[in-house]
Amino acid sequence: MIVVMKASCSEENIEHVLTVLEKHGLTGHPSRGVERTVIGVLGAVGPSGAPGAIGGINPTIGETLESLPCVDSVLRVSKPYKLASREFHPENTTVEVPVACVDGGSVFIGGDAVVMMAGPCTVESEKQLMTTAEAVRKEGAVILRGGAFKPSTSPYGFRGLGEEGLRLLAKARSEFGMAVITEVMTPSDVPMVCEYADILQIGTRNMQNYMLLDEVGRTQKPVVLKRGMSATFEEWLLAAEYVLSQGNRNVILCERGIRTFEKMTRNTMDISAIPLIKQISHLPIISDPSQGTGRRDLVTPMTLASVAAGTDALLIEVHPNPDEALKDGAQSLTLDQFQQLMPQLQAVAGAIGRTVI
Ligand code: E4P
Ligand code: PEP
Repeated sequence: MIVVMKASCSEENIEHVLTVLEKHGLTGHPSRGVERTVIGVLGAVGPSGAPGAIGGINPTIGETLESLPCVDSVLRVSKPYKLASREFHPENTTVEVPVACVDGGSVFIGGDAVVMMAGPCTVESEKQLMTTAEAVRKEGAVILRGGAFKPSTSPYGFRGLGEEGLRLLAKARSEFGMAVITEVMTPSDVPMVCEYADILQIGTRNMQNYMLLDEVGRTQKPVVLKRGMSATFEEWLLAAEYVLSQGNRNVILCERGIRTFEKMTRNTMDISAIPLIKQISHLPIISDPSQGTGRRDLVTPMTLASVAAGTDALLIEVHPNPDEALKDGAQSLTLDQFQQLMPQLQAVAGAIGRTVI
């Protein structure tokens, strides 16, 4: 259920609605838009089992709210996700990330500019990380990616440098002024990763790790939530809802390909996710063509296609010597390939009225 407040309503009116909701055992999540405030209501379970549906616990609450002079209307949201829905927040959400190397000291994911996040799949050594960071920064990337805690299909595969990898990422940040995005895999690591990272990444394998989602939801760090490799849009948005409902509104979705019968690519990159998510959700959506294809030769075309489809940012794997990478070398661009990609990216972004930062 969503309560749409009148444009003229005051903070006191909003507080009043929240108190009424509380009295009925419900929680209100206000979203203060440019034109008006809407309050997402969570807590009740309706006859259909949909959380937040009016009916079940208190069938009259909708009418009670509608009768308040400060309330414009009450919408029954049939979708199971509420806070992630466009109905709840009609304007696009932008997520601010502090970045020392840009004018103003921040970038806004979900804003006019397409944000470039690039770096190695995995932090392997200081030299590998610094070389890559310097090269991608020189071409314009403002956010450095790099895994310190790596998911690995095989327990014998490389699983990352752990905290030492985080320390190297922090060193690269202070040297090049870039922000850092890195994956966090378990709830107990969240405080430690928060000390080093500017953006927490939840990988495809953990999209439905609900304890982890709850834990990152209790921070205020931007969270990139990758699409589970077999997840539907609804499951993905419900995973986002976990983070949002804990109070962290800085959620960014990431399309990274899904598992299909096709074997020529590592995953099937679902470009349609970008415009579709924008229709049904206000959250920014970004694209990872490296994981999405698993093939270096497809990363550039799928990057350009993602920009044309409206992606808010890109997550691209780059390595000084991909053939020797400890992980995912086949999908990592060389430094030269990354350099060639950037002007093409700017041209496509320009064609649809966006810039690249
Ligand atoms: C991401 O970089 C993951 O760690 C990597 O893609 C996992 O690859 P694997 O499933 O081959 O171990
Ligand atoms: C990654 O980007 O490092 C990663 C592990 O990606 P995904 O979760 O999409 O496989």
